Amino acid sequence: MKIIRAKDYAELSKKAANIMAAQIINKPDCVLGLATGSSPIGLYKELIKKYENGDISFSKVRTINLDEYRGITKDNDQSYYYFMNDNLFSHVDIKAENTNIPNGENPDAEAECARYDAVIESFGGADIQLLGIGHDGHIGFNEPSDHFEKGTNCIDLTQMTIEANARFFASIDDVPKQAYTMGCGSIMKAKTVLLVANGKAKADIIYKAACGEVTPQIPASILQMHPNAIFVCDDEALSVVAEKCPEMISEF
Ligand code: F6R
Repeated sequence: MKIIRAKDYAELSKKAANIMAAQIINKPDCVLGLATGSSPIGLYKELIKKYENGDISFSKVRTINLDEYRGITKDNDQSYYYFMNDNLFSHVDIKAENTNIPNGENPDAEAECARYDAVIESFGGADIQLLGIGHDGHIGFNEPSDHFEKGTNCIDLTQMTIEANARFFASIDDVPKQAYTMGCGSIMKAKTVLLVANGKAKADIIYKAACGEVTPQIPASILQMHPNAIFVCDDEALSVVAEKCPEMISEF
């Protein structure tokens, strides 16, 4: 695992965007695994700038998103479908048919998980998988558990995640209680994993994920076993790692 430090969110976003842009330049028809949430928004803005400057094109890029709430319609402004269009897809030259997100409108969980696994399989997994991290260590919506899920699954969101995501909804009662998420096994199949985290509230969980025991109770800890996992974090998110295992942090 490589941990790259950034002084703040702006620098984190630039460094992480450079890594994603390098992937697109190296392989124009690459498969990008994408994430939603607040952490990657700055990175998406940087990618849009690179597209506008003519440095990268998404015309051949294919994407697979990590997750989607179950029971949410695509036009709901809190759906991850809406988020991706709003924060990236509508600003670049990506073809809609090359983008993939679990279908939150499909009530048949078994069918939807099988369909999404087949999509991931048909691509041979992601070339680079972007991740944020939940306060409880979730990646995608793989919540703490007694085992690591392999494939796409329909999960019950924990109270912690519902509370963390309530900030985006009119009220906590509006937060969906379930989500479809790519499994940890599919995430681990990506050739590169790129996790971004910022802010003090993520400092403890980044330390546990990067330096603690590998356990499904901290789903992100599985990334310690990945041959090419990169964490790009700001100084605040790295504050506990800097104190307890500073040798893990590389300058970049
Ligand atoms: C989003 C996702 C989640 C978030 C995580 C962190 O697609 O899969 O795992 O990455 O909840 O969210 P933020 O970035 O809002 O702190």
